[in-house]
Amino acid sequence: MSGNFRKTIFITGASSGIGKVTSLYLCSKGYKVIGSSRKLSRLDSLIREANNKGEVFFPVELDINLRDGEKGCIEEVLPKLIAQHKHIDVLVNNAGYGLWGPLEGISPEEMENQFKTNVFAPFRLSKIIAGGMRKRRYGRIINISSVAGWVTTPFNGAYASSKYALEAQTEALRMELWPFGIRVSSIQPGLFDTDFHKNMVQGSDAESDDLPYIYFIDRYRQKHKKWRKVIHKSIRIAELIERIIESERPRLRYPIGFEARAGMIGARFLPERLYQWMISRTSM
Ligand SMILES: NC(=O)c1ccc[n+]([C@@H]2O[C@H](COP(=O)([O-])OP(=O)(O)OC[C@H]3O[C@@H](n4cnc5c(N)ncnc54)[C@H](OP(=O)(O)O)[C@@H]3O)[C@@H](O)[C@H]2O)c1
Repeated sequence: MSGNFRKTIFITGASSGIGKVTSLYLCSKGYKVIGSSRKLSRLDSLIREANNKGEVFFPVELDINLRDGEKGCIEEVLPKLIAQHKHIDVLVNNAGYGLWGPLEGISPEEMENQFKTNVFAPFRLSKIIAGGMRKRRYGRIINISSVAGWVTTPFNGAYASSKYALEAQTEALRMELWPFGIRVSSIQPGLFDTDFHKNMVQGSDAESDDLPYIYFIDRYRQKHKKWRKVIHKSIRIAELIERIIESERPRLRYPIGFEARAGMIGARFLPERLYQWMISRTSM
């Protein structure tokens, strides 16, 4: 417990989609929610919506991509935030984006940026927050991963490799922190109603005439249109996060959405060739 709030939550990428819906939901459930965005003004509508319901949301400007030592980086902002709010009970590593395109059409710099946001930032945030949690022998770290952390499709290799890395990070951290009362879990969403697809970054050479993928990319887009009809409401993830926070022994992984569960069952149990053939056929 912290003050009159049930618990103190810090969530990255609160300006949109899953982060915004989760922030509002947890505020309404009596938690103290601190949420970050790279630009403070992007949190204005969230602050207003919370205020209109008589609730308080605590905004913070943080660019999780800045290097250690740069002004406004994680290592500078987070300790101040912890001191200001006394402690943080729950970290939700949510901020992330998808880098899209055939791997040959992605530059090393684009790949590095993908890993900076989706992998290195959760690592740096967890590292700083775990110390305080260990001392109080209580904490939850929830990584918003993806079904792509288990199921790889063509043209999603960059994003999937970042989420696979986040899965490994979650697994190791969970075992390392378990003896200290800290529970680490990942959520693996399928397709949810956010700006994720609008905000996807395409590899700079994905559609280059020098590469042979345009035909397959067109096919991918056609097939993907059908998948886009399978969209779930982000509030389901917000409710799941509350369940994880309140659970004594939350699970390691939570796939959410039937396509996420089906993909994971296929990846685990189908013969490799059959599985790869099915994924290719349904993707491009
Ligand atoms: N929606 C889905 O179908 C889906 C499926 C599987 C997994 N996910 C995961 O869910 C998480 C949340 O995504 P969303 O679906 O809610 O998408 P969204 O609506 O695009 O929101 C993404 C949030 O992350 C932050 N963000 C985006 N790009 C960033 C970057 N380059 N550096 C730092 N922060 C960045 C944004 O904050 P600011 O721009 O304000 O800083 C924004 O608040 C992501 O980790 C994503 O991989 C989503």
